[in-house]
Amino acid sequence: MSSENKKEMLLVGFLQASNCSNYTGSWRHPETDSNFLDLAFYQNIATTLERGKFHLAFIDDRLAMPSRFGNTHKDAVELGIRAVKLDVVPIITAMGLATSNLGLGATYSTTYYSPFHVARLFASIDHFTQGRSAWNVVTSLNDSEAQNFGVSEHLAHDARYDSADEFMSVVCSLWDSWEHGAMVADKDSGQFADSTKVHRIDHSGPYFQSQGAFTVPHTPQGHPVIIQAGQSERGRKFAARWGELLFVIYPTADGCRAYRQNLRQQNEELGRDPDSVKVAPAVYVVVGESEEIAQEKLAFINSLANQTDSLVLLSEVFNYDFAQHPTHEPLSDEILESMTGLRGFLDRVIELSGTKNPSVDDFIRCSGRGTLSELPVFTGTPQQIADQMESWFLTESCDGFVLAATHMPGTYVDFVEMVVPELQHRGLFRKDYVSGTLRENLGMPNL
Ligand SMILES: Cc1cc2nc3c(=O)[nH]c(=O)nc-3n(C[C@H](O)[C@H](O)[C@H](O)COP(=O)(O)O)c2cc1C
Repeated sequence: MSSENKKEMLLVGFLQASNCSNYTGSWRHPETDSNFLDLAFYQNIATTLERGKFHLAFIDDRLAMPSRFGNTHKDAVELGIRAVKLDVVPIITAMGLATSNLGLGATYSTTYYSPFHVARLFASIDHFTQGRSAWNVVTSLNDSEAQNFGVSEHLAHDARYDSADEFMSVVCSLWDSWEHGAMVADKDSGQFADSTKVHRIDHSGPYFQSQGAFTVPHTPQGHPVIIQAGQSERGRKFAARWGELLFVIYPTADGCRAYRQNLRQQNEELGRDPDSVKVAPAVYVVVGESEEIAQEKLAFINSLANQTDSLVLLSEVFNYDFAQHPTHEPLSDEILESMTGLRGFLDRVIELSGTKNPSVDDFIRCSGRGTLSELPVFTGTPQQIADQMESWFLTESCDGFVLAATHMPGTYVDFVEMVVPELQHRGLFRKDYVSGTLRENLGMPNL
């Protein structure tokens, strides 16, 4: 089938600057490269993704190691449960040096960093990578992160998004502070830049003050691409306003389609072109030369998980210590209301468990936290994987996928060597980059 005139899917690598991937058991996989403290580890993944013509690699972040479970970091450290989190910016910079076309996304928090700092970091990277930067805007998750930044409690959920709205306005104003063509750099006349085209922003709001002018000239993309993954009602409102690539988690294509339709409607109400916003669910892919080989690989990867991984990650994500309860007893309304972490996730546990007061066991089973079943798992031959991806994509449930790793770099090597050619053959995925910035590769204009 020809790829002419056909919509093609977006592919994103979901990376962690950590000892493990999104799947904690990944570090125990015999084929996982343990060299995560070496930049070559990330550069190797970047060149693999670029070989597969991926749109971008994106690195998540958390500003604390998990330490809510039993009020200690012991389990996280002993079992390697996201115990390491390196700063993501040096890593995407190194990945940019090893590649020429791959987009480079990194996560930075609007709750614990300042707008000027974040605007400057991402603008600098946009210059260094000739317009390939993207920022995953998060509001952060829990008290452990707050306590690493000298704050006793994490700001309340909706207030985090109010503050993030203002953060985004400041950052965008800073990025626009230098007009196109402001920098002249004319050695003969001695004029470096046209001061009538470089503006102060003089922002003063409830959460932030920033004067400007900005210290980084207009970047190749104008604004780095904005990634967002808010899933609560307030988070979706934020995502609909600012997000360009929206990463989501849905167990089924139907759920993802409903989300996408709702988002497109919100985009229209905000005067944004819905086609300029792309939705990509996170998935695992386990591919084998035969179905049997793929199933064997999957069973082995599943065997790397353990229950403590789940409990530690549940405590982290819900900002609540699950060690306080016998695992089979229902949790009271009061306890559920006190959980300040991911609200959409809590709703899902309640829905899937069929009770409004799930037990700890229900949380483990229905959340899939710490196991592969936290995300959809596409398993099988390259053709079977392509069938599953195609069915989500062609039913307009999504615009592409964020590929999480079961082991590194094997997940990406297998996918690039086996699945990408099949997607290309079906005309579902492009055969090459267009020259230019990440925005141009996403079919979006530079700003
Ligand atoms: C694919 C994906 C990646 C995410 N990456 C991060 C991350 O790196 N850091 C973080 O603090 N939150 C991350 N989140 C959490 C979201 O930013 C958001 O807080 C979450 O989906 C819950 O939505 P809510 O904030 O609207 O309640 C991620 C979510 C998804 C679906």
